[in-house]
Amino acid sequence: MSELVRYAVEEGVAVVTIDNPPVNALSPGVPEGIEAAIAQAGADPEARAVVVIGAGRTFIAGADIREFGKIVAGEKPRLSLYGFLERIEDCAKPVVMAIHGTALGGGLEVAMAGHYRVAVAGAEVGQPEVKLGIIPGAAGTQRLPRLCGVATAARMCALGEPVKAAGALEAGILDAILDGDLRAGAIAFAREAAGRPVRKVRERREKLAAADLGPLREKVEQRMRGQRAPLAAIDAVEAAAKLAFAEGCAFEAKLFNECLFSPQSKALIHIFFGERTVGKAPGLSKETPVAAIASCAIVGAGTMGSGIATAYLNAGIPVALQEAGAEALEAGVARIRRNFDSAVEKCRITPEEAKRRMSMLKPTLQWEGFGSADILVEAVYENLELKQQTFAQLDKLAKPGAILATNTSTLDIDRIAAATARPAQVIGHHFFSPAHVMRLLEIVRGRETSASVIATSMELAKRLKKVGVLVGNCRGFVGNRMFHEYMTQAVFLVEEGAEPSFVDAALEDWGMAMGPLAVGDLAGLDVGWRIRQEFKHLERPGVRYPRAGDRLAEMGRYGQKTGRGWYLYGADRQRQPDPEVAEAAREVAREQGVARRTHTREEVLERTLLSLVNEGARLLEEGIAQRAVDIDIIYVYGYGFPAWRGGPMKWAELEGLAGICDRVRTLGWEPAPLLVERAGGAGRFDA
Ligand code: CAA
Repeated sequence: MSELVRYAVEEGVAVVTIDNPPVNALSPGVPEGIEAAIAQAGADPEARAVVVIGAGRTFIAGADIREFGKIVAGEKPRLSLYGFLERIEDCAKPVVMAIHGTALGGGLEVAMAGHYRVAVAGAEVGQPEVKLGIIPGAAGTQRLPRLCGVATAARMCALGEPVKAAGALEAGILDAILDGDLRAGAIAFAREAAGRPVRKVRERREKLAAADLGPLREKVEQRMRGQRAPLAAIDAVEAAAKLAFAEGCAFEAKLFNECLFSPQSKALIHIFFGERTVGKAPGLSKETPVAAIASCAIVGAGTMGSGIATAYLNAGIPVALQEAGAEALEAGVARIRRNFDSAVEKCRITPEEAKRRMSMLKPTLQWEGFGSADILVEAVYENLELKQQTFAQLDKLAKPGAILATNTSTLDIDRIAAATARPAQVIGHHFFSPAHVMRLLEIVRGRETSASVIATSMELAKRLKKVGVLVGNCRGFVGNRMFHEYMTQAVFLVEEGAEPSFVDAALEDWGMAMGPLAVGDLAGLDVGWRIRQEFKHLERPGVRYPRAGDRLAEMGRYGQKTGRGWYLYGADRQRQPDPEVAEAAREVAREQGVARRTHTREEVLERTLLSLVNEGARLLEEGIAQRAVDIDIIYVYGYGFPAWRGGPMKWAELEGLAGICDRVRTLGWEPAPLLVERAGGAGRFDA
């Protein structure tokens, strides 16, 4: 028996324990160990039935995702778990799968090869493979519909969302939910089953009636636009109703391999590991002290301040919220209440819970709560002087050791920190709007920010259910410095004659959640205008700058909030083209001497996407971004970049860096030196 799988006999039942921390993935040795243990149980006169259970925090969380890269690189043979699962199912003694934690992907597929499945109430089961750009690859699309019907199975495999134990019991995936100790309960269940004839899932057909999967396909085409795996998953489940089991498995295997070898899967697996990698910032050791954050004080109750307050309250951290005027404070409190009301409407929290969270909010026109708070967050207007004044004030109010965080999206952290006598305690916490919804938190270290303040911020991000990415200090940091280049191209295109809807549609069809001009309208064109005023003195003569957005802002067209920006917005908030915008763009072009012409969609994509990649390479070279994967996670979680394209840097790698470098030159731009170097070398940004 391998060390990964243990065998013991208890009360006449063979107990097979999988012990492959942290999540009992099916790494090499695990399937072999399970198979050997089942064979041993089959031959063991002491054992009348078998229980398969996971050690530690979970049942099997799926195939070992790290192996997929090796398979695609040709270093390992293709995945083939079909025979292994059939041999479990062929065991003459009843096999009971005992589930706690999560039985996901290959984990659920192993569970379905058992004759019975029992679980604790807190367990979850699912086929989340589509989130990795693949489909179940060990008969999941064939056994699952045999247990729960074609419609439910197709939904689970296409959307990838796990199902809680109660739902799984109702659907027929589980046979029982056990109270108390799972191991003891499963052994008792197995003793009862012993002696009864076993029933193989693969031989069942009673739930295989065909279902209309058209509406699901439509939903997937909308919600998971551009992705191959969800539709392939539906096709594979549908095949279960039409084909014999073995043929269905062969069909599934064909689709699985097509998906696994696709760029989409490489991109999504990169994002899966990337989300976990960014939490481990280079240079921070496990010994770095992490301060306890039990209370927060926020200055500024505008859109950002109230969103940040909601995020803290959601994490159970009490918040003092300050504004100078009663009206603004009340508006902020009302926004926070609306956030909770909306969570109640969506059944995410109970009305009592919403009330409890509201009760942890202390609005103040003075500075009550600021002296005792562990972290003070500044969320005032994007203006350096105002931020410096605010920090001078916070420095006076805060207790020693408190963290002072600024929510600036572009300004120099060091200059803000210089307004205090404790620059080591100052850090950037750049939230994305709406701050209680968007997952990204850009954590910006200043020159003097202490390691402990950084480590505390990284931990705090997790508590706030954010993906925290540590970046260096420069104008716009990583996300907005790249976005600035991207937006510049979008505005140039409009000044040259492209319709805003043409630019946005090209990028949205490519996979961006929202086109850049629509994003501008959502964020407010006055915000960009204000930032550009801050940096006007840095403009150089003879260089072309985007002007059309500022022109619109100066016309009072602030975007969605004024019903007019790059688009017109009616009561339904739908974007409508506005001839006034085209006229403003024409006027700017005339003033700037910009030639008007027509553009192709390809040109829109080339200019906007390559501007992201080129600037990203510069940020890496300067060390502002520590790793390319940090940039990718920032773009996927903060800017609506499609995860299935891997983020801008991974996308460039998948396209081929040598080609990308040539394409940058074709646009007449200077490629970033790091891009040139990597294009001629490893073809990758990260080692
Ligand atoms: N393979 C390899 N490593 C895995 C893994 C897997 N299936 N699942 C998790 N890990 C690793 C993580 O990368 C992480 O590693 P580090 O500590 O080095 O960063 C560690 O296990 C712990 O994971 P989390 O931090 O995510 O822990 P969590 O408790 O927050 O979540 C989880 C646990 C819900 C299982 C989550 O890790 C998860 O969703 N994992 C992926 C599950 C999945 O997609 N399974 C399907 C795999 S594909 C498949 O099975 C194909 C098939 O049909 C055969």
